[in-house]
Amino acid sequence: MTQYQIIEGDETAYRDGSIKLHGPDGFAGMRRAGRVAAEILDDLVTFIRPGVTTAAVDDRVRSLMLAAGAVPATLGYRGYGFSSCISINHVVCHGMPSERALKEGDIVNVDVTALLDGWHGDSSRMYLVGDVPLKARRLVEVTYECLMIGIEQARPGNRLGDIGAAIQAHAERQRYGVVRDFCGHGLGRLFHDAPEVIHAARAGTGPELRPGMFFTIEPMINLGRPHVKLLSDGWTAVTRDKSLSAQFEHSVGITEDGCEIFTLSPRGLHAPPYA
Ligand code: MF3
Ligand code: CO
Ligand code: CO
Repeated sequence: MTQYQIIEGDETAYRDGSIKLHGPDGFAGMRRAGRVAAEILDDLVTFIRPGVTTAAVDDRVRSLMLAAGAVPATLGYRGYGFSSCISINHVVCHGMPSERALKEGDIVNVDVTALLDGWHGDSSRMYLVGDVPLKARRLVEVTYECLMIGIEQARPGNRLGDIGAAIQAHAERQRYGVVRDFCGHGLGRLFHDAPEVIHAARAGTGPELRPGMFFTIEPMINLGRPHVKLLSDGWTAVTRDKSLSAQFEHSVGITEDGCEIFTLSPRGLHAPPYA
């Protein structure tokens, strides 16, 4: 039984398993937090190039976040020490910034979450470093399509499983693997909240989508099999078969007739090639 809870005013949100339904104040807060995340991802389009370390990218994310009056929600989150997650090639998610320099041919995901006035804007995009082989570019393109095809299903009357079903069908049509071990999530005043948004699902299953629900959709799609393993650092998730992995993420809010994407790129830099 899914419980829904109407959120009014600025009451404290608890992780009690309920799905929160937000009003106009929530949409306004998420719009501002989402915009900060999106503008930072826009900025990285020219910053990311061969030779730049992922630590330098993370420093830039932190400076831009603070300059915008926001705080990186990942900093200190469950002991995580960085302002972004940076996942290169076969890293599926939660890659930690380091002195590793980006090199020609890498595909890289940067995932940022802006905490602004108590609201979380969570988004990630892929970047191509220099010339990237066609197979990898194709994976990135299809992964973006998976995100947007999922978002098309985000409207009242549908169920959460309709999103995952659409994503899974599109990915598997190209024989790609949909990661099961990590999901999208409800968010708002909380960074990670109910519901879990699974990216491989059965149509018509799961909680029904209602106006005021806020959640992320963030499919991780592998060139090979869906299975992942966690490295000994406790964070970095990689594909078991060492195949390339890609991911895009948006934060969305269900409206009366569809959804609003809070983290849409103001400059139209939605997916590579960004030129
Ligand atoms: N931004 C990630 C997400 O999409 C979460 C990162 S949590 C961290 O949910 F601790 F790894 F940073
Ligand atoms: Co997320
Ligand atoms: Co994220």
